[in-house]
Amino acid sequence: MFRKDFKWGCATAATQIEGAYLEDGKVLSNWDERCRKGLINNKDNCFIACDSYHRYHEDILLLKKLGANAYRFSIAWPRIIKDKKGSVNKKGLAHYHKVIDDCLKHGIEPFITLYHWDHPLFIDKDGAWSNADIVKHFIRYVDVVVKEFAPKVKHFITINEIPCILDGLGHIETQSDAVPIKRYKNSKSHLIVLRHLLLAHGHAMKIIHKYHAFGGIAPNSVACVPVSKSKKDIDAARKAYFDIVKDDVYAISIFNDPIILGRFPKRYFEVYSDKERPVFTKKDLSVISEPLDFYCQNIYVSRYIKSDGKGGYIDIGYSKKIKSGYIDWNRVTPDALYWGVKFLSERYKLPIYISENGFSLDDHLLKNKIHDKERSNFISKYLRELKKASEEHIDIRGYFYWSLLDNFEWFKGYGPRFGIVYVDYKTLKRYPKDSYFTYQNIIKHNGRNL
Ligand code: NOJ
Repeated sequence: MFRKDFKWGCATAATQIEGAYLEDGKVLSNWDERCRKGLINNKDNCFIACDSYHRYHEDILLLKKLGANAYRFSIAWPRIIKDKKGSVNKKGLAHYHKVIDDCLKHGIEPFITLYHWDHPLFIDKDGAWSNADIVKHFIRYVDVVVKEFAPKVKHFITINEIPCILDGLGHIETQSDAVPIKRYKNSKSHLIVLRHLLLAHGHAMKIIHKYHAFGGIAPNSVACVPVSKSKKDIDAARKAYFDIVKDDVYAISIFNDPIILGRFPKRYFEVYSDKERPVFTKKDLSVISEPLDFYCQNIYVSRYIKSDGKGGYIDIGYSKKIKSGYIDWNRVTPDALYWGVKFLSERYKLPIYISENGFSLDDHLLKNKIHDKERSNFISKYLRELKKASEEHIDIRGYFYWSLLDNFEWFKGYGPRFGIVYVDYKTLKRYPKDSYFTYQNIIKHNGRNL
């Protein structure tokens, strides 16, 4: 069973759906610039995207028809702040008031992401997350936004997917290197980026509390699943999930522990030398560990772990036989949701939302319909696993499918389609796919029919 007040929703992000890249006083973003430079697959760009800036009402009606009671979307920083002095663009604020009011009118609770990888180009030009100044710019932006919307919005999510930012998204100009650390000079320089992200998050949490709202963060992770139900494999999977491997930007305890537990894990000190680790003062740590009110997890996939028989673990990845979506990492491993939330809730003891989970395909419109059975199956299977966790009294508060609409998939452009609603990028018309109706039916029964 899911809680009676379970939040059923979909997630999107400003750059991926809004378009209107030069409208109503918006300044250029890091992504507009990448598009202008032709760095996106197929030379795609985010200038129009799904045109949700103008069609947000249609999108909210789609959510309403779906039966959703929550919508996770992000605010575009470049719509709000015009320059380095922090001057505010009132038209940008007015736009999001309209979106929020429309959600509330239809019984849909907004979950606002403050940073989903887009920032003003003038910040990017100064080095984005590698320059400490970004923290003070972020504080200004968050203060403006939360002050403005906290009277209407309860839930704010500070930063989306720290690991992917470290990997280059929202930060570095291309993602062509297979190994993230190659994008940095050395370990120290990627840990400095992490330091700025942690401080930005902590200050944002303090601001959220100052205005009496609730805050969380939404990292991603690849869940570790034990190959058997034996205690030693389960312990090994838990160990792997929270382990830190040098220069692996996808390790989660390196940021979750300081944020939630107020200290770095032992492994951090074993893996990185004194010279590599940036200085964190007591005061920094107290900012960073401003208590979270909830924890969001973006989770799509798992890797399989077995015990090495000596108290360690062997990471066996996932079998190549496991089906993937349009994007290779997008494997169908539903047990990610059960084991992911189980381990996270044991360690961090916070209410959990699945803030993203979804499946990419190369959908084609057929007589105005999309028969995306694989996506329907994906949703049902993953939600069954989440339900299992909920039935074991793990505090799961909600699930946001990624994404409501097909949209601009960053460097990959418009190739992969994750939506439960198809977007015809020529006409911008929306077509609910079969999976939309599958999800609608699950929501209608609060998951009892899974
Ligand atoms: C994670 C990101 O938050 C989102 O922006 C992206 O489109 C999806 N995953 C799919 O890759």
